[in-house]
Amino acid sequence: MQAGVKKLFVKSYGCQMNAYDAARMADVLAPEGYAETGVIEDADLIVLNTCHIREKAADKVFSELGKVRMLKEAREAAGLTTTIAVAGCVAQAEGAEILRKQRAVDLVVGPQSYHRLPEMLRQAALGPVIDTDFPVEDKFDHLAQPSEEKIRQRGVTAFLTVQEGCDKFCAFCVVPYTRGAETSRPAGKILAEAERLARAGVREITLLGQNVNGYHGEGEGGKDWSLADLLTRLSKVEGLARQRYMTSHPNDMSEDLIRAHAELPSLMPFLHLPVQSGSDRILDAMNRRHTAADYVRLVERIRRARPDIALSSDFIVGFPGETEADFVATLELAREITFGSTFFFKYSSRPGTPGADLEDQVAEEIKSERLGRLQEVVETQRRSFNSALVGRTIDVLFEKKGRYPGQIAGKSPYLQPVQVDGPETLIGQIAPVEIVECSSNSLFGRLAESFSQAQPTREAN
Ligand code: 5AD
Ligand code: SF4
Repeated sequence: MQAGVKKLFVKSYGCQMNAYDAARMADVLAPEGYAETGVIEDADLIVLNTCHIREKAADKVFSELGKVRMLKEAREAAGLTTTIAVAGCVAQAEGAEILRKQRAVDLVVGPQSYHRLPEMLRQAALGPVIDTDFPVEDKFDHLAQPSEEKIRQRGVTAFLTVQEGCDKFCAFCVVPYTRGAETSRPAGKILAEAERLARAGVREITLLGQNVNGYHGEGEGGKDWSLADLLTRLSKVEGLARQRYMTSHPNDMSEDLIRAHAELPSLMPFLHLPVQSGSDRILDAMNRRHTAADYVRLVERIRRARPDIALSSDFIVGFPGETEADFVATLELAREITFGSTFFFKYSSRPGTPGADLEDQVAEEIKSERLGRLQEVVETQRRSFNSALVGRTIDVLFEKKGRYPGQIAGKSPYLQPVQVDGPETLIGQIAPVEIVECSSNSLFGRLAESFSQAQPTREAN
């Protein structure tokens, strides 16, 4: 190994916030002499950034750790040391158990403590360390910022965490326990981070939070800002052409946020607004604190504000006590709303959540059968949403080279991947594209004739 240069491999599971955290962990380790590698065998430090949301995700960590232990042993035989760190929500929930179950692990760090990684690494040289506290200091105040070059390498779209934790306590969800109480970052710090990203060529930011539309951070003059205030301010940052936010709770879709969808051209017409179930009885048991009709009315208000908006949702099937009639109500709600895209999950009982203690757990076969039926409905919706774009011209933000030489790839306002024949010089630009074809996951198009590279684009101006 070359003296002074250490290699870091981070593998991230689960949500976008974990992806953001993975980048920030790399940022905090860069001044310590760690450079990222995509080759796990070369890594002096392996970080598994884990997800605890469903049992399957959590189980993955232990099988992955088995593989990583073998790698550590192989490297050891070659005279190389490897440090293994487990980060993220499994670390938070099962920290001590991880160290007990897998002795190859040197370090366990919860999502609120990764700013302490450098210090923890020094301690790990002497023996296993664990930090799953919810520290009083704000980790964001202690994190190194990425270099401009690093931001450029990461591409023209970026995540930015603005809010963390959740106070809603939905009966199925581990988030209030793994990420803690809701906290919002001060608007000034978010703005500074967004400006830095924009200066390094980022054109689109997605504001992240477990309950992002509950954002209420300190704004200018010490006054609390809502997410709408924050989006409005960020829409003025030079270079940032597109904004998104996720994930939202229906009960926090405030009037000013709905208005922001009407007023801010940079706010993309695509909203992830999970409803989870269409049955009032199950929504109540889930502690969602709204009915299916409330959700329908809310969607109507949002669509009135921004008629071209597309919605996406998460659904859970087989929550304890869910009957066939409850499930049919979910199918009906999905049909009534018509989603552009949807995520659907079988209920997974999570230790420590109220749902885990409920009687009437639904059998696995019934969950699978319902998942299949829901999938059929929402997949049909997704396909018809995609195919309705064929023949239309939409703005695409180009992000990278495409699948084949001469192609470039980008995203539509609705987050669909779009492949186009075009020059790489368009990467980082937004251009109108006429959609000519669609497959199940992607759109294919050609640059609109009216488009000339020299002209400012519609969204970008
Ligand atoms: N089982 C199944 N799905 C879950 N989700 C959260 N907790 C569970 C669970 N215990 C789903 C919800 C949430 C998404 C991120 O994951 O639909 O919106
Ligand atoms: Fe979990 Fe979202 Fe409910 Fe919070 S609002 S408890 S993060 S599902």
